[in-house]
Amino acid sequence: MRIPFFKPRRRDYALEPLTVGDSAAVAVLHREDFVRPWTDGEFAALLEQETVFGYAARETGQGAKPPVGFVLARLAAGEGEILTVAVARAHRRQGLGWQLMDAVLRELHAQRAEALFLEVDETNAPAIGLYRRLGFHQVGHRPNYYRSTEHGPTGALVMRRDLR
Ligand SMILES: CC(C)(COP(=O)(O)OP(=O)(O)OC[C@H]1O[C@@H](n2cnc3c(N)ncnc32)[C@H](O)[C@@H]1OP(=O)(O)O)[C@@H](O)C(=O)NCCC(=O)NCCS
Repeated sequence: MRIPFFKPRRRDYALEPLTVGDSAAVAVLHREDFVRPWTDGEFAALLEQETVFGYAARETGQGAKPPVGFVLARLAAGEGEILTVAVARAHRRQGLGWQLMDAVLRELHAQRAEALFLEVDETNAPAIGLYRRLGFHQVGHRPNYYRSTEHGPTGALVMRRDLR
């Protein structure tokens, strides 16, 4: 099912469920931003699991377009977890991160999940800004959790969004 939406800027995008066939393209996006990138095989293995789901954002237009953003999530025992989310640099600040996360929240509501959790690097201001705007609040802190080359070891914020 395609979920069209329109932005008052240059580009129009549509969200679609992420499939195993998107694994190689999302691995390329992931590599842009993460110190320990996941391979296409790792994405494929995750997407084959029944508890894992996600969405891809593509520019609308003629022909098949590779995703310019995606989110991967898991739902188990009534709790959701964001495994990863990324938007290509050229497509940021146009609402795609928000739309992708909102699609996960809607699916979790439909599945009657209790809460959505995630971990985020405490130095990642854009992601923390996005999550706070979506109603997440901090419920934990893991010191020295990430090994970013830019900042040295950094901590992770554990964040929760209530769904009931
Ligand atoms: C985090 C990320 C997914 C956000 O995607 P995006 O499409 O640019 O986000 P949106 O345009 O939907 O932004 C929604 C809101 O998030 C916040 N936000 C997004 N980018 C921000 C930034 N650079 N600084 C501060 N707040 C920001 C703002 O509140 C923004 O609303 P606004 O544009 O009306 O001010 C994107 O920056 C990204 O891919 N980063 C690299 C990967 C990553 O860090 N993933 C998260 C791992 S936990």
